[in-house]
Amino acid sequence: MAEARTIGILTSGGDAPGMNPCIRAIVRTATAEGLTCIGIRRGYQGLINGDFFQMESNDVDGLSRRGGTILYTARSDEFRTEAGVAKAAKNIEYLGLDGLITIGGDGTFRGARELARRGIRVVGIPATIDNDLGCSEYTIGFDTACNTAIEAIDKLRDTGTSHERVSVVQVMGRNAGHLALYTGIAVGASAALLPEKEVDMEHDVIDVIRKGCLHGRRHHIVVIAEGVGYLNEFVKQIEEATGLETRATVLGYIQRGGAPSARDRVAASMMGVRAIDILKSDASSRVIVVKDGEFDDLDIEEALKMERSLDENMFTACNRIDNSYLFHRK
Ligand code: F6P
Repeated sequence: MAEARTIGILTSGGDAPGMNPCIRAIVRTATAEGLTCIGIRRGYQGLINGDFFQMESNDVDGLSRRGGTILYTARSDEFRTEAGVAKAAKNIEYLGLDGLITIGGDGTFRGARELARRGIRVVGIPATIDNDLGCSEYTIGFDTACNTAIEAIDKLRDTGTSHERVSVVQVMGRNAGHLALYTGIAVGASAALLPEKEVDMEHDVIDVIRKGCLHGRRHHIVVIAEGVGYLNEFVKQIEEATGLETRATVLGYIQRGGAPSARDRVAASMMGVRAIDILKSDASSRVIVVKDGEFDDLDIEEALKMERSLDENMFTACNRIDNSYLFHRK
């Protein structure tokens, strides 16, 4: 495979803090090394619509600290059709792209694979606050989203403690509970409810709150992932069973915004540079991953066969920590 001279970049799916520093690393590295960079706006839809511009080094000034994505993002229904993929492939040819870097989550990688199957060289960079890709231990944006959720829940704890209430906090994660689990551990939640785990309300939530009360706990936090659903029903059940005032808070999209954390800025930058190295080598279509704590890359077909499971140790730890609180508190 020949070394790439002109490359395209797009961001797709839900935005994630760290996408901007990743774009910055790609554009700065590529232009410094003589490559031409074409920014594609609004993900695969922009590729279909011909929404492109040439990116220079100064287009990415100040992006290390900026959340969101200057390339905008979209979920494209048209790209899910054969005709849509064909249009996108035609535009890649028209632009003379030797390679395309796609930044996003599972849907973004699947889109990239469609292009790879048509002989287009792609490099996928994992970025989603859900951290739910089978191929990578880490996805850009997860750390910032956890920190945002933690900061918000710490504030909820103040008001919840003053009113001696139960706070049920919904965090994002339609299909994956990683964000809820990390956040739950970090804020010392009484329970973390995840889409991957069946919930035994009486045992996992009500009992823990009741025991906490017996031992003098005045405020309880339950973190629930969006994908579990039934938020208002849970609130009602907890209130009825415990007699404690219970309030729900949906954190929503604030978890996707904000300045990226150090971890996300560094991961984004390292992955951006690696994407350029891949396109300058003779490798075919790859996705960048974190494996055993190190940056690595895998064949895109292989990567998409891998499945992500929940960290059972973390789940058990989340419950064990709360039990130790019950037994040791004086
Ligand atoms: O980015 C991932 C994610 O935040 C999920 O946790 C959530 O379910 C989904 O995106 C919602 O995205 P949107 O409303 O933008 O389609």
